[in-house]
Amino acid sequence: MALAVITGASSGIGREFVKQLHEKGEADEFWFISRNAEKLEAVRDSLGVRAEIIAADLTSAEGIEKVRAALEEKKPRIKYLINASGFGKFGNFSLLSENDVCGMIDLNVKALVLITHMCIPYMERGGHVIEMGSGSCFVPMPDFNIYASSKAFVLHYTKALKYELIPYGISATCFCPGWVKTEFFGTAFSVKGARVPKKMKPMLLPEDVVARCIKAAKKGKVMCVTNWYTKVQHVLFKILPDCILTKIWLGMQTDNTKEG
Ligand SMILES: NC(=O)c1ccc[n+]([C@@H]2O[C@H](COP(=O)([O-])OP(=O)(O)OC[C@H]3O[C@@H](n4cnc5c(N)ncnc54)[C@H](OP(=O)(O)O)[C@@H]3O)[C@@H](O)[C@H]2O)c1
Repeated sequence: MALAVITGASSGIGREFVKQLHEKGEADEFWFISRNAEKLEAVRDSLGVRAEIIAADLTSAEGIEKVRAALEEKKPRIKYLINASGFGKFGNFSLLSENDVCGMIDLNVKALVLITHMCIPYMERGGHVIEMGSGSCFVPMPDFNIYASSKAFVLHYTKALKYELIPYGISATCFCPGWVKTEFFGTAFSVKGARVPKKMKPMLLPEDVVARCIKAAKKGKVMCVTNWYTKVQHVLFKILPDCILTKIWLGMQTDNTKEG
């Protein structure tokens, strides 16, 4: 039995991890965690996998406690932990509601760290932790500030976690794709008056980026930057000062506002 615990399994990148881990024989049992039980059940049924459904809002203490209770009750042996729950919103910091600002930090950072902290004692040697970063984690991004900053935390934290998990024989990988075609953008574009990127090409496909990430995790790589475009960005991020990178990003934004 190989168990994969996946947050955000109800759609997009998380769902694609379920599909590929199942098809590649990397996991034959799953725990699906996110808010929408019906969507999680639909993923389970459409992919024909064995899955425990844990409907939990991971921005809430109750949601986190629900996962903790399931771990303590079932004492699973986990091979893959994938923290794919997350959201982002474009818009000047002052346009975002407190709920959105704190929600991004609570989900993208706090829940990811807590779920990892809770799951590590149940992980088997040879296991893999995959933490969802983003191509946005390398540079300060006005109008996507809290999201990019939350992902910068994830990258920094995963780079250190890799070393902390060596004694346990578990790998840690931060997954940093560019723009991926998922439901992410429905929420991301929902702020009225927000400046948004003029174009988001190349838009990657979940199946391509997830396949690369699984390979990277199995090789024990600490970071998976998925395509040439994000790789070039990553090199530029290393050699150019932040202020220039931020100006390039600002130049890629619309001047006009997007109606929510
Ligand atoms: N798409 C991109 O361009 C892109 C690029 C780089 C990184 N990422 C990252 O990839 C991850 C997955 O995003 P995606 O593109 O697959 O978007 P998505 O299709 O919108 O998936 C987001 C997932 O997060 C779950 N979620 C949202 N709020 C939650 C909450 N409060 N508690 C628990 N689960 C919650 C959603 O499930 P429920 O609605 O059922 O709760 C859903 O399964 C995110 O961390 C995102 O930041 C995305």
